[in-house]
Amino acid sequence: MDRESNYTERTFFQGQPTGTGFEGRRAEIIHPTIAEVPSRVNEAINILRGNIQLSGSNIKAIAITSALANEGKSSIAFRFAKSMAGLGKKTIFIDSDIRNSIIQSRYGIVGKKKGLSEYLCGSISKDKIIYRTDDNCLDMIFTGALAPNPSELVSGPLFQELMEYVRGLYDYVIVDTCPLNLVIDGLLVAKQCDGTVLVVESGKTDRAQAEKAKQQMQYADIRILGAVLNKAPVHEKRYGYSHYGYGYGYGYGYGYYGEKSK
Ligand SMILES: Nc1ncnc2c1ncn2[C@@H]1O[C@H](COP(=O)(O)OP(=O)(O)OP(=O)(O)O)[C@@H](O)[C@H]1O
Ligand SMILES: [Mg+2]
Repeated sequence: MDRESNYTERTFFQGQPTGTGFEGRRAEIIHPTIAEVPSRVNEAINILRGNIQLSGSNIKAIAITSALANEGKSSIAFRFAKSMAGLGKKTIFIDSDIRNSIIQSRYGIVGKKKGLSEYLCGSISKDKIIYRTDDNCLDMIFTGALAPNPSELVSGPLFQELMEYVRGLYDYVIVDTCPLNLVIDGLLVAKQCDGTVLVVESGKTDRAQAEKAKQQMQYADIRILGAVLNKAPVHEKRYGYSHYGYGYGYGYGYGYYGEKSK
């Protein structure tokens, strides 16, 4: 990682006006355990990061979405957030998949963390759902308890208020969403972001599904920043063996690396 080594907690707070409530984040520090992947995967994520940075300084809140389930949104969203934080950018990762979140279990975060659903139901204030992580530049918001009405929750004014709040505090807000073609929540969340990255699973998502997702975003006037072709098997000949590498699709490539299933 190309993280600036002298980036300290003090610099993280620099420029934060007092009274923003930012210091009101939870004191608890979360330690997400992220699996090692081949360096080419991190390179692909860094390419994605570079492209997003080049998309303009007005692109701050980025939704990561896909047409269908299981295409790799959460994996990419979290690694992407880590990568932004690695540059010393104040970053917050928001898990908005209230219906089917795997973030806590995948990254070994134990205990029932309060999150979006509690905040959106009005039972907790927004700063109290922000968790610090062991990376000074990365904070997280979890989904919280399962809620029966996620689309109503994310379409209400409190979600918009939260997005405005975090936009004011962080350099980047990375939002993991649910699949666009299956439930409306993803679209509602993406609408509150400045741009969206569409993840497409290589060899699985058919063109019509990807097109449908793209059209939905266009109708909703959501800016599409690009697409990631995920799990693309690329046979590289090295030392006489053929193995998976990563392939460039339209937009960015993010290769198959055999991460453990959830
Ligand atoms: N490039 C990749 N190579 C190999 N496995 C991957 C890759 N990207 C994701 N996976 C695996 O695919 C599965 C689905 O990934 P992930 O949970 O990130 O998808 P998702 O789109 O967020 O799913 P959902 O729609 O259920 O939220 C997981 O087991 C994950 O480890
Ligand atoms: Mg997911």
